[in-house]
Amino acid sequence: MKTIINARFIDESEAVVSLMDHGLHYGDGVYETLRTYSQKSVMCEEHIQRLFASAKAIHLTIPATAKEIQQQIQQIIACNKQEIGPKNELVIKVIVTRGIGQRGLTSSCTPTLIITADKLPIYPKNIFTKGVAVCTTPYFRVLPAVKSLNCLAQVCAKQEADKKKCFEALLCSSADADIVTEGTITNLFIVKDKAIFTPKNHVLLGITRETVLSLAKRMQPAIKVMECDIRKTEFYGADEVFLTNSLMEIVPVVKVDGVAVGKGSVGKITKELMETFKRS
Ligand SMILES: Cc1ncc(COP(=O)(O)O)c(C=O)c1O
Repeated sequence: MKTIINARFIDESEAVVSLMDHGLHYGDGVYETLRTYSQKSVMCEEHIQRLFASAKAIHLTIPATAKEIQQQIQQIIACNKQEIGPKNELVIKVIVTRGIGQRGLTSSCTPTLIITADKLPIYPKNIFTKGVAVCTTPYFRVLPAVKSLNCLAQVCAKQEADKKKCFEALLCSSADADIVTEGTITNLFIVKDKAIFTPKNHVLLGITRETVLSLAKRMQPAIKVMECDIRKTEFYGADEVFLTNSLMEIVPVVKVDGVAVGKGSVGKITKELMETFKRS
């Protein structure tokens, strides 16, 4: 696969980043992950916009314009799509690190812009047809609105999920461990009495989350949407739970912390949203 480092195309096997890069030392940087549909980028502008918002929040200057990044994404798709074959899709990751600088927590560095491509994993069908189990954890992201290179909270939470044989781990709010915020790489939704509820605070405002919210409002009849905190106890009364992410779209959840959600099978509204999302 070809990658791009600071606007230079290079074979993945030869791509190197400096040992002095602050992304490596301090997890100092931001990123975006997007996928292709029919080998074309989708929601590219939204991802780039969020990349710039994340960078702004940590006072990091991206060494390219949004238009240049968009062009590089198109170029990396064009030069890697043959390698994966016509039936497969690509995952594109755009990473901006603080870059090369003196040792220490300084921001006077020369940022590095990396764009990589990979074959999109094929998710097992049964996660969508049968739903998944998730677990709550005590981990929280420090700057939740920022898609930061520092993913330690998510790494630790995912280890717990793996131990418990759960598909995803849920994070909590830094302000209150009883408030469940999002998954390690997903946004969280609860369905109750035909309305959907999703946290707005202490989360990454996901691009799929936004799409689902607008689809729900436009459905016939429209589904009521509430953006609010969700407490752990609310899973017990929920009819349905689902997760969203750019690569996986909508994933139904049928068990939280070992307890069945609703009837313990994929819910009606989740199914409707999954179908509507596929058509959109
Ligand atoms: C912490 C976190 N929350 C939510 C999401 C979902 O965001 P999106 O729908 O933009 O992929 C992600 C995506 O990786 C994430 O890392």
